[in-house]
Amino acid sequence: MQEPSNTETVLVIDFGAQYTQLIARRIRECQVFCEIVPADTTAAEIATRQPKGIVLSGGPASVYEPDAPRADTAIYTLGIPILGICYGHQLMSYQLGGVVQPSERREYGRTDLQVLNPDDPLFAGLDTHLTCWMSHGDKVLEPPPGFRVTAVTESTPVAAMADPSRQFYGVQFHPEVHHTPFGRQLLDNFLKRVCGCRGDWTPGNFVEQACRQIREQVGEGHVLVAVSGGVDSMTVAALMHRAIGGERLTCVFVDHGLLRAGEAEQVRETFSHLFPVHLVYVDARERFLERLKGVEDPEQKRKIIGETFVRVFEEHADELRGCDYLAQGTLYPDVIESGATRHSATIKTHHNVGGLPPDMRLKVIEPLRYLFKDEVRAVAAELGLPEEVVWRQPFPGPGLAVRIAGEVTPERLEMVRAADRIVLEEIWRAGLMREIWQSFAVLPAIRSVGVMGDQRTYAHPIVVRAVVSEDAMTADWARLPYEVLERISNRIVGEVPGVNRVLYDITSKPPATIEWE
Ligand code: XMP
Repeated sequence: MQEPSNTETVLVIDFGAQYTQLIARRIRECQVFCEIVPADTTAAEIATRQPKGIVLSGGPASVYEPDAPRADTAIYTLGIPILGICYGHQLMSYQLGGVVQPSERREYGRTDLQVLNPDDPLFAGLDTHLTCWMSHGDKVLEPPPGFRVTAVTESTPVAAMADPSRQFYGVQFHPEVHHTPFGRQLLDNFLKRVCGCRGDWTPGNFVEQACRQIREQVGEGHVLVAVSGGVDSMTVAALMHRAIGGERLTCVFVDHGLLRAGEAEQVRETFSHLFPVHLVYVDARERFLERLKGVEDPEQKRKIIGETFVRVFEEHADELRGCDYLAQGTLYPDVIESGATRHSATIKTHHNVGGLPPDMRLKVIEPLRYLFKDEVRAVAAELGLPEEVVWRQPFPGPGLAVRIAGEVTPERLEMVRAADRIVLEEIWRAGLMREIWQSFAVLPAIRSVGVMGDQRTYAHPIVVRAVVSEDAMTADWARLPYEVLERISNRIVGEVPGVNRVLYDITSKPPATIEWE
């Protein structure tokens, strides 16, 4: 799938900052489409994209290092507005003839910022005394010719600079992080006041454009979508349905029996009523359980589940043979992570649905490949998917099997599924669904003594895990209110047979992982 056409675009040139993705997200939050491109993208390549603006990201290098990433200097002659952030600010100064001071010492943390020029479009509508977040070593001592200093801090003489005639702007601080409270407004000012963006990148517009592109690409072809129950694949299926209708769409759903409560029913319900399509529902529950019998090792469990998936797909290949395209729910962070932000071929080997025979030669379409997770949720809502699907938390492919320490048996599966349902219900009830990245129950392979009624018990504990995270790479345990924890605990012990104790996992990632296995 091509990038959205007719969309005003801003390009973020990536110089390796950990915050680059965050810049892209903040720009999208201003309803302007933006894409991250590598540092070595040429000015000619940029020009063909006709961006409304360019952002030079931060990065760990110093402009004086021989291997420091540089922008193609011809970008400064394209007549396109540019905003440099941190390293991007230093690089622009350096490349345009300013003075950058190398430094070993870092300025780090919240810093008072004084705006010298309140008329500057970047600071429009903002106070003259602000708090910003700094994290840099080198600093700009003198802006390049044509620029004036628009903001300073106690130790940074050029905290912001502007050359309004060329529409070049630079800021030493990080407007993309939450610790710069006015950062969002500043980015919005750049996008709307400097670049002249309309800000019409909305879920509705995305759906309309994506459908148009899907229709162009697919023509009269048939499309296959493998649905897992998660929001990404459900959104792909719903989008395909909107674009080409149900006649030429086949969804395949393998129920491995390791799903959360109600999930399998939801998939079937959605694709029989809401978006009627040909659904190949494969009930492989017994088969997976059979294969997992007696297996305790986490990696072994994962391997078996992966292999069984492949077998199941192979066996149903005949039913899927009429399809020409495979639509996948690849998201933008995956695209960025795999280094594929350059325009790669639209036809690639499919990797998510292993096991489809190679002679099927399905062409891959990835209609969500430019979206972040929160944007997918907005699109899902726009398409009319139920709220439980829109806000469904990420769920590992091997499902509940990696939340049961030791052997997966029907009884243990039932126990963890029942406890998991309670955790999720209480998180919904407390209105925390949007803040919590993932929350679930884990069944460890131990037992402990308790007393219920007048009876001694020797039963299982359930571990409750709830984390907050931006991307699952790192995570912190969620500070759930005690009342919520109390309700979860009371309900699990009261409602789930075989459980007499509830624990709360207070480990972040790292050093732990989100899942237990
Ligand atoms: P960990 O446990 O490594 O998990 O901190 C990070 C994120 O990845 C999810 N996860 C998986 N997702 N297949 C998936 O599709 C898997 O095998 C798998 N293992 C973990 C996990 O739920 C968390 O969001």
